[in-house]
Amino acid sequence: MALGWLALALLAMAGGIMAQENGPVQPVPYSHKLHAGDMKLKCAQCHVNPDPGETMTLPKPAVCGACHAGKYDREIKWTRVYEVPSFVYFSHRAHVKAGNTCEECHGPVATRTQLARETDLTMGGCMNCHREKKASIDCTFCHEQRN
Ligand code: HEC
Ligand code: HEC
Ligand code: HEC
Ligand code: HEC
Ligand code: HEC
Repeated sequence: MALGWLALALLAMAGGIMAQENGPVQPVPYSHKLHAGDMKLKCAQCHVNPDPGETMTLPKPAVCGACHAGKYDREIKWTRVYEVPSFVYFSHRAHVKAGNTCEECHGPVATRTQLARETDLTMGGCMNCHREKKASIDCTFCHEQRN
């Protein structure tokens, strides 16, 4: 009996871990491990921060089409993995300029076949790093009339 419960608890835990590793199912099984890991394509080949702007953006169809003509050369509706609510001000430009790396906020992307939120970018997670790196934790730094 005790063993039965233990097995159930372990199954539930495994389920939890699986759920964390499996991000949203994307319309095309694009793999960062293959393209950014094995093939060593640079993040910037697909993610650029347009000037002016604060976002990193997803690749345009032509980027994929360069190697996959006739297959992945049309608009693909990717499901977003990381997103902050509209009442939060967030800038990739400022963070990258301040020396923060993609991996600090998004984990070891180049080793992942499928992306999932694997770091804490809730308010608590933002605050933890801001405390560590001595950036401001004033409410108005991330909220209110900034955007
Ligand atoms: C520099 C060339 C290059 C670029 C750019 C590129 N790929 Fe690939 N991709 C490859 C190669 C090489 C493979 C592995 C060989 C193969 O299966 O065709 C591959 C494999 C894949 C696969 C595995 C299944 C399949 O159909 O082969 C998918 C899905 C895929 N790529 C999607 C994309 C998408 C979407 C983009 C744009 C975001 C993209 N690729 C950009 C070269 C590229
Ligand atoms: C060949 C193109 C390509 C390269 C190179 C590439 N990515 Fe991506 N990236 C994509 C595509 C396509 C998506 C959307 C599908 C997905 O989420 O897996 C994406 C999604 C992401 C996301 C999730 C965005 C969101 O919120 O939905 C992050 C974070 C990311 N990439 C980081 C990186 C980093 C870091 C690197 C370099 C180590 C990198 N990418 C290299 C094509 C690329
Ligand atoms: C300080 C943390 C942080 C760093 C550093 C960071 N990101 Fe992000 N990233 C985020 C957050 C938060 C979001 C969600 C932003 C939103 O919803 O506006 C995001 C979203 C994204 C997206 C989805 C499109 C977008 O701009 O919303 C991509 C792609 C992405 N990041 C790639 C990268 C790449 C590539 C790097 C390294 C050059 C990087 N990120 C560095 C926190 C970070
Ligand atoms: C990995 C560490 C780290 C994480 C995680 C992080 N930040 Fe930051 N943030 C910094 C650093 C370092 C600076 C630069 C501080 C400076 O220049 O004095 C900064 C600056 C900022 C700024 C000022 C930008 C500007 O335009 O000057 C805002 C706003 C901000 N962060 C919001 C956020 C939000 C929202 C999140 C969570 C979604 C977040 N940060 C997550 C390290 C981080
Ligand atoms: C470093 C950036 C940062 C700072 C500083 C910050 N917040 Fe936030 N805040 C966030 C982010 C990111 C979210 C969205 C969290 C999420 O997506 O779960 C958020 C969400 C919220 C929410 C909505 C909560 C919810 O559960 O939906 C409130 C209310 C809030 N913040 C108030 C504050 C107050 C009050 C302060 C000052 C004590 C503050 N924030 C400071 C980044 C920040």
